[in-house]
Amino acid sequence: MAEYGMILVETQGRVGVIRLNRPQALNALCDRLMDELGQALLAFDADDAVGAIVLTGSEKAFAAGADIKEMRDRTYPAVYRDDWIGEKWETVLRVRKPVIAAVAGFALGGGCELAMMCDIILAAENAKFGQPEINLGVIPGAGGTQRLTRAVGKSKAMEMILTGRMMDAAEAERSNLVARVVPTGQLLDEAVKLGERIASLSAPSVAMAKEAVNVAHETTLREGVRFERRLFLSLFATEDQKEGMAAFVEKRKPNFRNA
Ligand code: CAA
Repeated sequence: MAEYGMILVETQGRVGVIRLNRPQALNALCDRLMDELGQALLAFDADDAVGAIVLTGSEKAFAAGADIKEMRDRTYPAVYRDDWIGEKWETVLRVRKPVIAAVAGFALGGGCELAMMCDIILAAENAKFGQPEINLGVIPGAGGTQRLTRAVGKSKAMEMILTGRMMDAAEAERSNLVARVVPTGQLLDEAVKLGERIASLSAPSVAMAKEAVNVAHETTLREGVRFERRLFLSLFATEDQKEGMAAFVEKRKPNFRNA
């Protein structure tokens, strides 16, 4: 497995685990960390032995945002030329396997945005979400104004983004930002268990289900339903559909072969 300086990477069973590991800066998302994260995500996506990916940080911080010290002296021509944020930050959106964000501690600014780019957010009881960019004289730049609004609705998103107020885990669950809250000490185990469950299912149907749910954010209901039906029907071309339905009828466990 590749050696990285700012992330730790391992597999647990069929789950690829990426841990952001820059504790001295509360996992602030500097360019090097984002490059490494992108490489690790694509490597797990290409690895047939991996069926789901967990992205996590430390107990204190998932990530406290883009690296303010690195960013403070950037000039407009340079950030525009480099399309900074752009593709580098959005690698997670190119991953076809489900990515679970396991969030403990701070998920602020770009950290909250990174979690929202993942497919499922599991929150530890001590998690805190926020978009504090307004305090720095800027606004969210990696999708926060769009994804937070879609997740929690306009009024709460507006309040958080205009004031920089943080939301705790209980509020995040109530507001549908996260799937579930778990005890802080059990966060990684719960995320890996969830990943294992997903990885045990048929990979083509998992990938298509993920794609279809994501389309719900980007199109009309009519188009989304058409898209879903196309994918649904295409699964009848897989062996796993035959196996899954045969297993149900024969009252046994399916043996999916991802084919
Ligand atoms: N960038 C760079 N360094 C950061 C950082 C960040 N986003 N967040 C924390 N750090 C560093 C601190 O500077 C500090 O380093 P030093 O010890 O060298 O001073 C170290 O991490 C520990 O941080 P604190 O001492 O501040 O820890 P705390 O427990 O007192 O406070 C905190 C924690 C409330 C998260 C506070 O660190 C904080 O407010 N951080 C900034 C959060 C923020 O504004 N994020 C948005 C960034 S902009 C962005 O993300 C743009 C975008 O949309 C893409």
